[in-house]
Amino acid sequence: MRFASLLPGEAKRPALETEGMNQAVSATDLSDATPSGPRIALFVEDGSGDWHARRLKKAMEARGARVVTTTLSACAFDTTSASGVDIPGFDGLLPDGAFVRSVSTGTLEQITFRLGILHALRESGIRVWNDARAIERCVDKSTATFIFQKAGLPTPPTRVVETRARAHAHLTADPRPFVLKPLFGSQGNGVRRAHAPDELPPPEDVGDVYYMQHYLRAPDATLFEDWRVFVSQGRVLSAMVRRGKTWITNVHQGAEPLAHDPCEDMSRLALAAASAIGADYAGVDLIRDQDGQLMVLEINSNPAWKGLQSVTATDIADTLAGDFLGAVTKVIA
Ligand SMILES: Nc1ncnc2c1ncn2[C@@H]1O[C@H](COP(=O)(O)OP(=O)(O)OP(=O)(O)O)[C@@H](O)[C@H]1O
Ligand SMILES: [Mg+2]
Repeated sequence: MRFASLLPGEAKRPALETEGMNQAVSATDLSDATPSGPRIALFVEDGSGDWHARRLKKAMEARGARVVTTTLSACAFDTTSASGVDIPGFDGLLPDGAFVRSVSTGTLEQITFRLGILHALRESGIRVWNDARAIERCVDKSTATFIFQKAGLPTPPTRVVETRARAHAHLTADPRPFVLKPLFGSQGNGVRRAHAPDELPPPEDVGDVYYMQHYLRAPDATLFEDWRVFVSQGRVLSAMVRRGKTWITNVHQGAEPLAHDPCEDMSRLALAAASAIGADYAGVDLIRDQDGQLMVLEINSNPAWKGLQSVTATDIADTLAGDFLGAVTKVIA
């Protein structure tokens, strides 16, 4: 089996990928640029660079960091090195910090191995953004939903079950329009509605796990919107509203991103969601139900910000670089 999506975001490609990850990593990308400052491992998508990664690298280097761009798949566990972990460019030594842009698509074993490397770095005292635990919680929509509920945050009523028969029984017992989402989905891919139990997709479409959520829009709605709030280190960096003509308001699905000044409620919910998940930075998606109540829809631990950057004056890469290096420096000080 392959994990189709470990990097939710607003990007154009599915899977453990984010926007613009189709340019090759150059030798320059892989070399240290400055002779001093904290040594940072920047993990990008397998065999590719990324608009976000390039900006982050530049911003971190401008702040004196030495950044090695590499991929988690190129790392090794190695008992012959003192650190036990071998990261390309670090000669068996540990970096001072690690920033994860992508875990990359892979088999269950590969993803487990890569997350293991991230867990190992944290266990070795290295600051990792975001930490493997946060990535795991965000990637699995059902766990994220559970954590929102546990934290007392409003989130749409949701039931997640294995097998089509159990999903069928649920929709029969609670007949209403439902939204079905792939457990590891992103960019609105695979998100669909079911009005009756017979409209449930076949098991192979959803890995035989059915994430079923109440559909929140009014039946006669014609304008659809949700909000993306980008948070880092306990504060809101920027936000946008995504307005669409169809009920799925991902930019990838044709919705328009517009600058948005988040109200207090939005900021509070987004920050609480990130804190509940344990994410140092995150993209939090909020939606209003038919009564106008704001709800936490979902959270991305490796959010893309290209769309958001196009409608905001805040330099997101630079702010993130500053926040991350500040956290790294605190650990090594
Ligand atoms: N319960 C719901 N009721 C109405 N509309 C919904 C509901 N859930 C999702 N949507 C719409 O579908 C879009 C996609 O859903 P969601 O954000 O949950 O998944 P995704 O975008 O595929 O995942 P990710 O945000 O990780 O990329 C939302 O932006 C929203 O417009
Ligand atoms: Mg979304």
